[in-house]
Amino acid sequence: MATLINPPRDPNTLSNYNNWTCKHTTANFEILFEQKKLVGNVVHKLKSITHAESKEIILDSSHVSVGDVHVDGNPAKWELLPPLGPYGSALKIELDQPKGIDEFIDVNISVQTTEKCTALQWLTPAQTSTKKHPYMFSQCQAIHARSIFPCQDTPDVKSTFDFNISSPLPVIASGLPVRASPGASQSGASLYQFHQKVPMPSYLFALASGDITEASIGPRSRVATSPDRLKECQWELEADTERFITTIEKIIYPYAWGEFNVLILPPSFPYGGMENPTYTYCTPSIISKDRENVDVIAHELAHSWSGNLVTSASWEHFWLNEGWTVYLERRILSAIHGEKYRHFSAIIGWESLSNSVEHYGEDHEFTKLVPNLKGHDPDDAFSSIPYEKGFTFLFLLEKLVGKEKFDHFIPHYFTKFKGKSLDSYEFKSTVLDFFAPDAEASKLLQELDWDSWFYKPGLPPKPDFDTSLVDVVYELAKKWRSSESFQPQPSDIQDLTANQIVVFLEQVLLFEQPLTAERSKLMGDVYGFAKSENIEVSNLYLRVGLKAGDTSVLEPTTDLLGRIGRMKFVRPLYRALQKVDRRVAVETFEMNRDFYHPICRGMVEKDLFGNKDT
Ligand code: BES
Ligand code: ZN
Repeated sequence: MATLINPPRDPNTLSNYNNWTCKHTTANFEILFEQKKLVGNVVHKLKSITHAESKEIILDSSHVSVGDVHVDGNPAKWELLPPLGPYGSALKIELDQPKGIDEFIDVNISVQTTEKCTALQWLTPAQTSTKKHPYMFSQCQAIHARSIFPCQDTPDVKSTFDFNISSPLPVIASGLPVRASPGASQSGASLYQFHQKVPMPSYLFALASGDITEASIGPRSRVATSPDRLKECQWELEADTERFITTIEKIIYPYAWGEFNVLILPPSFPYGGMENPTYTYCTPSIISKDRENVDVIAHELAHSWSGNLVTSASWEHFWLNEGWTVYLERRILSAIHGEKYRHFSAIIGWESLSNSVEHYGEDHEFTKLVPNLKGHDPDDAFSSIPYEKGFTFLFLLEKLVGKEKFDHFIPHYFTKFKGKSLDSYEFKSTVLDFFAPDAEASKLLQELDWDSWFYKPGLPPKPDFDTSLVDVVYELAKKWRSSESFQPQPSDIQDLTANQIVVFLEQVLLFEQPLTAERSKLMGDVYGFAKSENIEVSNLYLRVGLKAGDTSVLEPTTDLLGRIGRMKFVRPLYRALQKVDRRVAVETFEMNRDFYHPICRGMVEKDLFGNKDT
């Protein structure tokens, strides 16, 4: 009779991680730039965790080439199962001898990545800023680690890691370096070794290699980037990094990962930032020469607690990673710049939440705090909803129990789940248990409609925000909206920060009656938006221009689309551009196809041509 097994709580993995759990992973890879692939082997130390005897191991894998598989040193029977949508072709391994509970095995898989790998981008020397050396980097979140090597690709499993990576160029990985000076091999490659002693999920596995140099940005932090950019990156980050760290340490507890470094990637990096342990990865678009985009650093740093130590058990509970991180990011900002900055940032967040709800439609599954992702690619559900609905929920809890009491809950929560993964139900019971002795708070929490917060689609109730930093901006937007004859002056914006200008432009984008092409152009000329160095500003101005049908923004738009591969800018710009001139949008995409990271390429392809898989 078949044994009844509980379904795993992560629907986006094919692995049988309810039977086996990975305790340690050793990744041995050679980086072959010429062939654009990683070649090597990976060893998983798996522990049997079921009373039913385990004879079969299923790992996630997608577009990798498996050579052979050894279990405890002996060749094992294996096969790749038929591909299943976004989840790939699982690797099934059969054991000769079944294992009982708590027994360990070593599974050694020799593997090469292929051209279809979705996690890696390979840049030719011509695609880098110094044009001298090739470059490669990975992006594994959400489910791309399986396209580098077979693994239990779920945030519900954590293991320690060893990295043994050989490359002709410096290597960065999500662990601390084991040896200071790498030894050279015959081929001219050197071996770079790293160890990650804090157990982490597969999506935090990270590698990068290229012409990378480093400079100090604080007592436990360095910035790493291409040598020609080093000084400006150092300037951008050295004022804030350490004070962000000490600030959040006071809110939660000491930083657990040793060093907090930042790698500034080439412009095709598809995200603003990615919280890979030891080295946060960042887009070069935060280097804006005004230190106005360092909130991305506060955000990625906060993930060192929310996400990297305390992890959402599946991508359905992703808000526990991102909502908490946005909440902590804004607590850092508040501690350093004052409470009204937290509210300012929350107002920007609320606007992007409203935009996402409008984009999906207010009944859409993906507008729920806890969506059903069975059968979906988590990347397709990615939006500001888990970030901002999650933040709004935590902000409400803080209000409900009072800030002082919530401040005691924060370290309790991060201690209770340190090193673990949890879902929204465990979060709920932890909140209720913690406040149970407090009759007043407890009553309010019992009365809270948790189910609506978790499962009701659309916008949640809007919190009260302190609008002191946005009022001036709304005033200015009102002038533009209500009168065609409003004559702008450079002085209108001279006292505004870049982030206030971002709010202004977002307001303009929301006008029911778009600006005329002439008025939009006038705005760009008088306020200097057309030439702004801050890409947050220039990208929004281009969207205003496209919406207004101002053809003079077409060229700067296609130009920007060839300079940056960050999806936050690229996807909305393509959507807006195709409405104005679909041919130009398609041509621009085809021209820049190789410039974009595979994840970005795939998403824009879906945006422009629809989902080819369905
Ligand atoms: N972990 C995310 C990036 C991510 C999420 C990558 C899901 C892949 C799948 C990262 O921490 C993040 O949220 N980045 C933001 C920056 C931030 C300041 C909100 C981004 O990329 O825009
Ligand atoms: Zn994040």
